[in-house]
Amino acid sequence: MPVLVVVGAQWGDEGKGKIIDLLTERADVVARYQGGHNAGHTVVVGMDEFILHLIPSGILHKGKKCIIGNGVVVDPAALIEEMDGLLKRGIRFEQNLLISRNAHLIMPYHKALDVASERLKGNKKIGTTGRGIGPAYADKISRKGIRMADLLDPEAFREKLNANVGEANFLLERFYNAPLVNQDTVFEEYMRYTRRLMKHISDTTLYLNEAIEKKKKVLAEGAQGTHLDVDHGTYPFVTSSSPTAGGACTGLGIGPNTISEIVGIVKAYTTRVGSGPFPTEQENAMGELLRERGREYGATTGRARRCGWMDTLIVRHSVRVNGFTSIALTKLDVLDDLDEIKICVGYKHKGKLYEEMPSELTVLEQCTPQYISLPGWKQTTIGIKKYEQLPKKARTYVEKVCRLCGVKPSIISTGARRDETIILERPFQKGARK
Ligand code: GDP
Ligand code: IMO
Ligand code: MG
Repeated sequence: MPVLVVVGAQWGDEGKGKIIDLLTERADVVARYQGGHNAGHTVVVGMDEFILHLIPSGILHKGKKCIIGNGVVVDPAALIEEMDGLLKRGIRFEQNLLISRNAHLIMPYHKALDVASERLKGNKKIGTTGRGIGPAYADKISRKGIRMADLLDPEAFREKLNANVGEANFLLERFYNAPLVNQDTVFEEYMRYTRRLMKHISDTTLYLNEAIEKKKKVLAEGAQGTHLDVDHGTYPFVTSSSPTAGGACTGLGIGPNTISEIVGIVKAYTTRVGSGPFPTEQENAMGELLRERGREYGATTGRARRCGWMDTLIVRHSVRVNGFTSIALTKLDVLDDLDEIKICVGYKHKGKLYEEMPSELTVLEQCTPQYISLPGWKQTTIGIKKYEQLPKKARTYVEKVCRLCGVKPSIISTGARRDETIILERPFQKGARK
C-alpha cells in the first residue's frame, strides 16, 4: 500500500510544503488532490526559497512525477506563470508534470464573482484569497463546470463558455454591479493557454493506479487544512474543497485501501488567515511575537496571519476526521525564546466546559479557552536533527502536545530548510502506527 497522504491539521500554512519536499526524496510520484492557487507552499533549499501554488511541492526533486489531480481547480494563467517562474530558476519538468483531464478550470468570471461577492458581504466576508476558488467549485458541483479536457475540443469549450459567461455576466451586472467578462477575449486567451498546456493534460487517475499497481510510492499532497475543509472545518469560514484525507481518494481517483500512512502537519502554535473563529488567537504582544518570529505573512496574498497558542481540541478533531497515523510537528524553533508556553485543553462557554471541539460557531467565537502552561526552554533548537539533542523542556512540550492530541510524532521540524528536521520514523513504511 504505497500511498502516503499529507494533510494540514489546522487552518493551513502549517509547513506542508517543507515536509512534502522532504518526503519527496523517498517518493516516486507527488500528487496534489484539491484546492487551487489559493495555496502557498514554501520550500527552502539552501539559500533559495520557492513558493508553490498549484504545482506539487515535489517539483524541485529531479525526475519525480508531479500530478495535478482531478480534485484541483486550475487557473491556467496562474499555472503557466508558475511554470515559467520555475523554468527561469532552472527547474525542468517537461515530462514530469501531468494535469488531470478532469480537473476543473478557474475562469475569469469565477475570479470576478469571488471578488464581487466578498465586497458585497462587507464585514461578514470570508476573507478569501480572491482567486475564484469558491465559484469554480460551485460550478463543478452544479454540473456546469468546464474541465481541462474541454480545452482540447474548442467547439465544445466555446459552447460551455458562452452559456456560463451569459449567466455570470447577468449576476455581475444586475446583482453585484461589477465589470463584465467578454466571452471572445476569454476564448482567445484560453486557446492560447491550451497550446502551452496540452501536452501535460492526461488521464492521471489511470497513471496513478498503474503506478500503485507497480508498487511505486505516491505522496498525496493536501493544500489548506482540516479546519478549512468544506465539511469538517469552521463553515462557512472555510475553503470550498476537501483538504481532509478522504479528499485524496476523490481528488485523485484512488481507493482508500491504497493509503497506508496519513501524516498530519501540525504547527507548534496556531495561525489563521482570513475571517472566522479562532479561540486561542492572541491579539496582543504575544501574537505579534509569534508573527515576527514565525514570519507569519501569507505566502499567497502577503496578509499578516492571525497567531495564537496551540489548541489541542482543534488538532484532536483533525486526528479524528483524518485518521492520522502520525504527525509532523513544525516550527518548534519559533517558540525557543518564550518564558512560558500555553496549550489549550478546553473551552468554557456559558458555564459549560467543552473538552472536544464543538461545531457551533458561537461557542468557538465566544468561549474562554482553558490553558495549561509549560515553562519555555529558552535556548535555540534551530537545525537540531536528533530528538535527544532537543532541550528537555522542548521534549516535554512535544510529548505533552502529542499525548493530549492522541497521536505520535514522526517528524519534528526545527527550521525552514530541508535538513533542519528530526526524523523519528521513516515515511513510507508499511504498517501504520497508532
Ligand atoms: P504550507 O502552506 O503549509 O506549505 O506553509 P507555508 O509555506 O504557507 O508557511 C510555512 C512557513 O514556515 C514557510 O515560510 C516555511 O518556510 C516556514 N517553515 C516551515 N517549517 C519551519 C520550521 O520548522 N521552522 C521555521 N522557523 N520555519 C518553518
Ligand atoms: P495553504 O495550502 C491558509 C483561506 C483564506 C480564506 C478561506 C477561503 O498555503 O495552507 P478561498 O480563497 O480558498 O476561497 O478562501 O481559506 N485559505 C488559506 N489559508 N492557507 C491556505 O493554503 C489557504 N487557502 C485558503 O484565507 O480564509
Ligand atoms: Mg501556505
